[in-house]
Amino acid sequence: MTRRSRRAPIRPAALGVRPGTLQAGDTHAAVTPRRGHSTPGTLPLVPRYNGSMDFDGMLNAANRVCVLTGAGVSAESGIPTFRDAQTGFWANFDPTELATPEAFRRNPGRVWAWYAMRRRMAGSVEPNAAHRALAALEPRFERFALVTQNVDSLHSRAGSSNVLEIHGNILRARCASGCVTVHRDDAGPLSGEVFAGDASADESDPDRVAVPRCPQCGDLFRPDVVWFGEMLPARAIERAFEHAAACDLFLLIGTSAEVYPAAGLPEAALESGAKVVEINPKASAFAPRATLSIRQPAAEFLAAYAE
Ligand code: APR
Repeated sequence: MTRRSRRAPIRPAALGVRPGTLQAGDTHAAVTPRRGHSTPGTLPLVPRYNGSMDFDGMLNAANRVCVLTGAGVSAESGIPTFRDAQTGFWANFDPTELATPEAFRRNPGRVWAWYAMRRRMAGSVEPNAAHRALAALEPRFERFALVTQNVDSLHSRAGSSNVLEIHGNILRARCASGCVTVHRDDAGPLSGEVFAGDASADESDPDRVAVPRCPQCGDLFRPDVVWFGEMLPARAIERAFEHAAACDLFLLIGTSAEVYPAAGLPEAALESGAKVVEINPKASAFAPRATLSIRQPAAEFLAAYAE
């Protein structure tokens, strides 16, 4: 069980932020371009690479790899991203109503039902070639760290063994007061009780959704994920930054790179001298500084690396 006091802050661009914290647009405009990298609309100081041959060369030369994945890596499994226009969750739902502690306090039934829907979704899809490729690549390197913002367990299901889930996991719930954490697949009666309503939880009728209560203190159970304005699991994000700063190749896959502190990981890698390869059909916020941008869907591009 992770204690909330040991978490580092998440700084989402989509919501109101505290004074002094970063927002996506300002953050990226404020970064000074480093030698060898370009800002949008300027000529790169070194040639930009392109294509899988360059990617192969970088993989072959690398000893220590750090990967950051986001919702795009699960898109080809059938799980929507957050910020893609029209199809993204945040195009159809209001994050302030679903992904903040305040939203949960205001309407726990609605929030619980939305996460129950997402648990059903995560359980009904399969890992794709991108997840499988990352699992297959892991043993090839001296060090290989897979950091994910995703909460869907698809990396673990694909066989990755060391996954740093910095935004939590949707298949876990915890007592809002911190007494107990339970995984949907745990043996024992508590798991059965907590997730019993998942199949029938109806978002359109939140008043009828029975949010489970902690058997020890009676407080509500909540999804064990990081909501906007909350702290990240401290150990996981610390280790993620250690891996980013120590790697020689950083892969940024399927993320808009708009949410901090995760979006700071490729910056840390670049500053330490690593190459950063972005795999994303669209330019992320980090694209201007990427060493190589592969403009393809992740599963399509990485299929060649899946065993
Ligand atoms: N392959 C690779 N990338 C893809 C694909 C694909 N098949 N499809 C879409 N993408 C890209 C999009 O172009 C976009 O850049 O995935 C990215 C998804 O970005 P977001 O929706 O912002 O998701 P993510 O970066 O994971 O969001 C970070 O924000 O709402 C919070 O906590 C939530 O963890 C999430 C965080």
